[in-house]
Order: sequence, then structure tokens, then C-alpha cells
Amino acid sequence: MCGIFAYLNYCVPRTRKEIFETLVKGLQRLEYRGYDSAGIAVDGDKNTMTDDINNNIVLIKKKGKVKALNEELYKKDCMDLEAELDTHFGMAHTRWATHGEPSALNSHPHRSDKNNEFVVIHNGIITNYKELKKYLNSKGYEFESETDTEVIPKLIKYVYDNREREDLSFSTLVERVIQQLEGAFALMFKSRYFPGEAVATRRGSPLLIGVRSKDELPTEHIPIQYNTVAMFKEGVKEKNSHNRSDNSTAVNSVGDSKAVEYYFASDASAIIEHTNKVIYLEDDDIAAVVGGKLSLHRLNRLAGEDPVRAIQTLQMELQEIMKGNFEAFMQKEIFEQPESVFNTMRGRICFDTNKVILGGLKDHLKEIKRCRRLIMIGCGTSFHAAVATRQILEELTELPVMVELASDFLDRNTPVFRDDVCFYISQSGETADTLMALRYCKEKGALTVGITNTVGSSISRDTDCGVHINAGPEIGVASTKAYTSQFAALIMFGLMMSEDRISLQARRLEIINGLRILPELIKKVLTLDKKIKSIADELYEQKSLLVMGRGFNYATCLEGALKIKEITYMHSEGILAGELKHGPLALIDKHMPVIMIMMRDACYTKCQNALQQVTARSGRPIILCCQDDPEVSKNAYKTIELPQTVDCLQGILSVIPLQLLSFHLAVLRGYDVDCPRNLAKSVTVE
Ligand code: F6R
Repeated sequence: MCGIFAYLNYCVPRTRKEIFETLVKGLQRLEYRGYDSAGIAVDGDKNTMTDDINNNIVLIKKKGKVKALNEELYKKDCMDLEAELDTHFGMAHTRWATHGEPSALNSHPHRSDKNNEFVVIHNGIITNYKELKKYLNSKGYEFESETDTEVIPKLIKYVYDNREREDLSFSTLVERVIQQLEGAFALMFKSRYFPGEAVATRRGSPLLIGVRSKDELPTEHIPIQYNTVAMFKEGVKEKNSHNRSDNSTAVNSVGDSKAVEYYFASDASAIIEHTNKVIYLEDDDIAAVVGGKLSLHRLNRLAGEDPVRAIQTLQMELQEIMKGNFEAFMQKEIFEQPESVFNTMRGRICFDTNKVILGGLKDHLKEIKRCRRLIMIGCGTSFHAAVATRQILEELTELPVMVELASDFLDRNTPVFRDDVCFYISQSGETADTLMALRYCKEKGALTVGITNTVGSSISRDTDCGVHINAGPEIGVASTKAYTSQFAALIMFGLMMSEDRISLQARRLEIINGLRILPELIKKVLTLDKKIKSIADELYEQKSLLVMGRGFNYATCLEGALKIKEITYMHSEGILAGELKHGPLALIDKHMPVIMIMMRDACYTKCQNALQQVTARSGRPIILCCQDDPEVSKNAYKTIELPQTVDCLQGILSVIPLQLLSFHLAVLRGYDVDCPRNLAKSVTVE
């Protein structure tokens, strides 16, 4: 959902070519967030100046992937690639279109005017852009794109043009602009009037800053400067304002060293190869780099708000975000599942005492146990993790469990009570629908629990408590390892809740023993890759593919079908086998490929009925089943035999062949597995 990357070198000489390389590399790391167009803004050479402002900004934008932009950069013969820039601020953007088709014109950076006085990159959505545009149009500002974003550079220019005699700092201009914006944003600003300066801000969309200095950073926290004078509250009009540059106490906590570099990015994967020291911005923070020094600003201090931002150390390794020998990130992530599921459990299950401790929840356990019901909220794959674990959570917690798609939950204004406990399941921790549902439930006074894979994400920070699933960075747009880790984490939550229930001890023991050997069983499932590839060879020219099952494996059908449709563009449906005769059976004939999941659990006999119904209509089912199941084999067109585990864990194993199948189908159909059309990894718009 758009990736932002920016780089500022202060007293660190870099050639323009090196700057291009840094910006492009940053964008490539974020490309999974959007890949329909990309662009950069850098300082131009003096000889390309178009007027008398002593600094010139060049925008280079291109439709298509970052690779296309990269090629474009080197076609600009007016740019001296070897020119050494001692201090420079460049910014870059990769887009996932929301307003306006993918095109160079609609891609970012957007500009205030033909002289590029102010340029902006944006991730998110400005919901009141139409009103702002109308106002700015009435003031003579002309727009060139169809985007919501373009109001922002126009608005900052408007504020600048109307500053009268005030000597406003760059960050104050930005502060005035964001007071007019509604919606979600992470923004970076660059201006000809403030060469070598950067301003960044966010509300609802993620943004973090990496700091690299050859000296030790002299502080662990950056204090926030508050501007307690309310400015520019209503409408786009001038008001008496407070000029920060007059009384600013310029905070020198970072950047005291003579040479320093800053990296701004939508997520840590674009920063980790440069530095592991980062600052996560909170909503409405404004970060400004002036003269190599970083300072943080906010309009007002909110009650109970921490007046500092910590400089954190990222735990991520560069290797985790590299593809290695795999063809695609998705494939790598599928094969990482023995380790990622192990990492979800590591240090949390004591196999000697059968205790499960999720550190992030233990202080809230009493409250959770007293609740009226559990509400599990997510989107897409994360929602499927809730569906997959609902039954076992009902069994282990003895509480009603609702599973909710975040968007639908909000559309219904679902009643939520103070004694509800609401879970937000999200790989990225930034999904707008899930985040909105979180805010909605907070207002109702419910306890909120995050199940996320991204440290520092909005959901992990805004919930009362939570579990980090520790699956490691997931870069493939199609979620794989996050699903199996969310699944395992939710089961661990159920085990933690049921520790003192005598009647459930045998069941708990069975599950804990199942979890203990789960990584080994995942490895065994992965050895089926060749067989699955051969099935893909047979299926890849089909138009449609149905996936059918029930009980603990219904979620596997939904998730398998989602994987297939999103990366192969085949029509695919996950069907509850119990519903077959209520409609979907009409689709079955000898041409329709059907995958059935028939594991030896409480639904086995009922699944056999569904199998009979399919074979009686000349269907030729490919069946995912347990090893050595002659009953199934004799009715199957083909079987994929899986190791058997505890019923409630079986879905972790049965989803893997479907992940692999979707991967092979997409490759055979000639599609880019990691960048499916029209999609982006982190959906930060509603
Ligand atoms: C599918 C997929 C999406 C996400 C959904 C929620 O492969 O990745 O369906 O699961 O957009 O994203 P998160 O989990 O980041 O909230």
C-alpha cells in the first residue's frame, strides 16, 4: 500500500549515483507494498536550475516497477552521476494506486508547482481531499494529477505563500498542513527553500527513522518539543500563529556528531541494511532534520503521553529479508515454516510442565478469563487464522468466540461491551480496517489484544496487550508463514487460558505434544513439493479450482482458495463441505477440478459423504488425506498424503500443500508470484 523511503546524508559525501542506489534499494525492499509506479525527488545540478532560487529539485517518475524507474534514472543525461553531494536529502516512493490510474503523472513525489518548490511523498489516503482541492482551486492553485495526495504540496505552498512576514520553519509549515488533513498518512516533505532539510510526519500509516552515525549515539531518547499555541484549527485560513523558529530549543540529541545519515521508511526492512537504530514515529509526530540534527515536534502534549521517543535497536537480520536461493519470497517463506512456527513457540511452552506463557498477556489473564466473549477480528489470511482456531478456542476457553472480518464488523456497528475481549490479528499490524476496528472497540471500553508480526506496528502499539508471533519479516504479498504462526499463537493462547481446568488436561497434553513435533511434521509436508508441482503441471491451464472441507479444515479451504486466486488469478472458492448440497454441487462435473481435505477427525465420515456426492457427479477429486487411507485412495483421482497430527493442529499442515500448489500454478502461468496484480502487502486504506 505504497512504500516510502528517504535518505539524508549530512556531511557524508555521496555521489549522486550512490544516492540513487540507496534510494532504489530502499524502494526495492518496500516494493511489496505497491508496484504500479515509482518516483524519486533529488537535488538537481546547479546548471539545471530554472530560476533564481539557489536550489533545484528534480522529479523522476515512471509507471511500472522500481526496475523501470531505476533504468529511467540513468537516462537523465542532465544529471551528473559522479557529482559529490556533501549534504543531500532525497526521497522515493513506490505506489499502489487508490486515486487515479497507475501512471507517471499520478505517481509520487507530487509537487506544489512547476518549479517543484515543495514536493511530497505519501502513504495512506486523504479523505477530505475534495474539499481541500476545491478551496485551493479557488485560490488559483492548479492540479495536474488525479490523486488525493496532490492537495498536500499545494497546501504547503499555500501556507508558505501566505505566511506574511513570519519566518516559518519547514516543520511549522508541515504542522499547519497536517491540521487540515483528514484520513491516514505517512508523509515526507522536501523543499527548495529548505535545502538539506527533511520533514516527516504520520497519522495512521507507519513511518520510522533509522539513524547512522560513525560515533555512538549520545542518547537513548529524543525529547519532543510541544507547540502549545493552537494554530490554524479550522478551515484553510491564516490565523495568528506562533513561530517555532523564534523560540525553538533545537534539540541536538541525535546529530551532534558532525557526520550523520538518516533513513526514513514505511518499514524496517528498508532500513536494516544501513542501521539497526530506529525511532518509530507516533501519530501526529513531526520529525525534522535541520543542519544534520533531528528534532521531534507535536502540537500539544496529550494526557499521559510519553514526552520522548525511544531510539530502539532492531532485532531483524538482513538475511531475513533476502531471497537467498529461492525463486520468490513467497517460496522462501513457505519453506521457512518449520523455523517460523518453532520461533512462535520458542520460550513460551514448557514441555516438562505443560505450561504455556505468553508474556504479553500474562498480566491480563485474569481479566480475559472473566470476559463475556472473545471477538477475533482480522482481514484476509489473518481472518482465516481466526476461523481456523475458533473451534479449539471455544473448547479450551469455554467462552463464546466470534470471528469477524474487520470491514464487516465496522459496517454493522457491531455491539461491543466493556467486558468483551477483542483480538486484532494482523501480520503487518497496519491494516486500516483492522486498525479502525481496534479504535472502535477501544471507544467501547473492551480489552484489546494484538496478534501481530511487526514490532512497533500501529496495532501492536495501540492494543492493551498482545502476542508477537515472531514469524520473521514476511515480504511475499501472499501471506504464508504468518498464517501458520498466527494459528500456533492462537492455540497457545487457548492453552494458557485452560491451564487450571482439570477436565481439559488430557486435551491440553495432546495438543502440547502435537506442538512439540509440529516443526518436524512441517518439514515432512514440505518434501511433497515435487508431487505438488506435478499436480500443478496438470492444473495450471484450468480456469477454476474448488477447495472443499469442513470442521477444523474449513479455514484451510478458505485460505488455500485465497492463495490460489490472489497469485494465479484463477477463480477459486473455499467451500464448506456441509454446504455442498445447498448449491455448490451444481458446479461439479468431470471438468471441474476439486481439491478435498479429508483428515481423520470428527468430520471424516461427513467428508466421505461429500466425496460420494462429488464422485457420483463424475468429479475427479484430488484429496488431501492422512497417510495410508485406503478408503479415500480408492475414490480419489489423486491423493496428497499428509502426516497426521492432533485434529486442531492439522490445519497448519494441510494448508502447506495449497500454498505450494498456488506458488507452482502462478509460476507455470507466468506470473510474478511476489507482486500479484492489483494487490499490495499492507493495506493501509479502508
Ligand atoms: C493474503 C493476504 C491478505 C492479508 C490481509 C490482512 O495472502 O496477505 O489477505 O492477510 O490483507 O493483512 P494483515 O495480516 O497485515 O492485517
